[in-house]
Amino acid sequence: MSDTSHDRLLIIDFGSQVTQLIARRLRELNVYCEIHPYQNVTDAFLAEFAPKAVIFSGGPASVFDDGAPQPPASVFEMGVPILGICYGQQVMMHMLGGKVEQGHGTAEFGRAYVTPSDARIDLLNGWFLEAKEQVWMSHGDHVSQIAPGFEVYGTSPNAPFAITADVARNFFAVQFHPEVHHTPNGKTLYENFVKLAGFTGDWTMGAYREEAIRKIREQVGDAKVICGLSGGVDSSVAAVLIHEAIGDQLTCVFVDHGLLRHNEADEVVTMFRDHYNMPLIHVDESDLFLGELEGQSDPETKRKIIGKLFIDVFQKHATEVGGAKFLAQGTLYPDVIESVSFSGGPSVTIKSHHNVGGLPEKMGLKLVEPLRELFKDEVRALGRELGLPDSFIGRHPFPGPGLAIRCPGDITREKLDILRKADAVYIDQIRKHGLYDEIWQAFVAILPVRTVGVMGDFRTYDYACALRAVTSVDGMTADYYPFSHEFLGETATRIINEVKGINRVTYDITSKPPGTIEWE
Ligand code: XMP
Repeated sequence: MSDTSHDRLLIIDFGSQVTQLIARRLRELNVYCEIHPYQNVTDAFLAEFAPKAVIFSGGPASVFDDGAPQPPASVFEMGVPILGICYGQQVMMHMLGGKVEQGHGTAEFGRAYVTPSDARIDLLNGWFLEAKEQVWMSHGDHVSQIAPGFEVYGTSPNAPFAITADVARNFFAVQFHPEVHHTPNGKTLYENFVKLAGFTGDWTMGAYREEAIRKIREQVGDAKVICGLSGGVDSSVAAVLIHEAIGDQLTCVFVDHGLLRHNEADEVVTMFRDHYNMPLIHVDESDLFLGELEGQSDPETKRKIIGKLFIDVFQKHATEVGGAKFLAQGTLYPDVIESVSFSGGPSVTIKSHHNVGGLPEKMGLKLVEPLRELFKDEVRALGRELGLPDSFIGRHPFPGPGLAIRCPGDITREKLDILRKADAVYIDQIRKHGLYDEIWQAFVAILPVRTVGVMGDFRTYDYACALRAVTSVDGMTADYYPFSHEFLGETATRIINEVKGINRVTYDITSKPPGTIEWE
């Protein structure tokens, strides 16, 4: 358990795909919350955690399953408000004396509309401004009889008990998912819930910063910490925060693998070493990486080579720091959430992502992960709080394997040079047109094909490239950015005029899925 000084809300996770979004909605309301899988929530845990309110998440199980997930019965005796969502509603009814029925034609998946009953409750303030409220349903089973003490406050065609409450005990149970985007007014419901639970909204980024610093000091003591700096927002914010906590006990290692963008190494080194006065080891290992990658064209092979070399190189230079006991990482909340896997197996590997996996065990290091409770945009907010320049915080994500995965086929220095130049022109165009902040990520990929062109009176035979720009919330799904034809035409002209080696420019209009954001 991480935080003790704020009012805390406990989310008991029953394995829903969208449990994180509940946490997300609460953080937007400045409420401190933690998600814990139901197996870990024992009587003793509840007593120690002392939540001011509890939310039961949804989940894929059925209360009819053998060993169906349940919270401890003592949760209902704590005298705190409880909100059950979807499976959370069903388990609540099941345990408190109501009834649940199996699907059989009454399953609901997707958009549905809830209409109100005559009585109103505080949980629904600001709801039902229209005669019905759009919600997102995703359930097979449904409640068929509510528990004693509960009343119905909203119904949908396939969920007669869409919104129920035992107002005397402050127990609320809804069949739909208020946390998802498709329940447009869902945030209001959470807002009402935390208000009636007495939360004051005291969990701010400033408070987070202070507490994070205190915790880092506590964890690290006077030991040394090393941090792999990639120049990305997450590792940068982690480094600045840790530096603020423990000063020069922190050393950053920045590995230049020769696959960085134009000027990237200089920008990172200048900012961290010169501006923040942070001890920083900057190693140029481009010969090693590019040498090992020579002749390799398979995307997974390239990723694996880079991942392995990164660990080797990092380890080699980290030992120069001498006696470091901790490794700092910019791990975010979505990466670490302890969720219950009901699927029984890992999901398919689409790409082997590059990180420092395996390193802590290999080097006998403990991890410092001060961002593990934050989502990406909260990390950006913390970065601003720490005074990192906006130009740095707002940077588009850049993958660990760098330009290697934007250079399908063989990687050569010549191609990387061309790619770097084209990318710089493209990003300059995007900035000049004021579009940078509207786009999640934009870059150029150099294609492994030469095509014929004509420039002036001469024939050319040069590389083709693809421009990519996507909008996204979290990188998991993405849409291509709808540039104007004028913008695309002007950008293509600039790239062909300014970058020797490219004579054809295309625009990638694939969304994700079915495409991925990067080309490899
Ligand atoms: P894809 O291409 O999988 O990318 O749709 C989703 C997001 O992840 C980034 N990405 C990576 N980031 N190491 C990283 O740190 C990686 O190996 C890696 N591969 C992809 C990608 O740039 C996009 O933002």
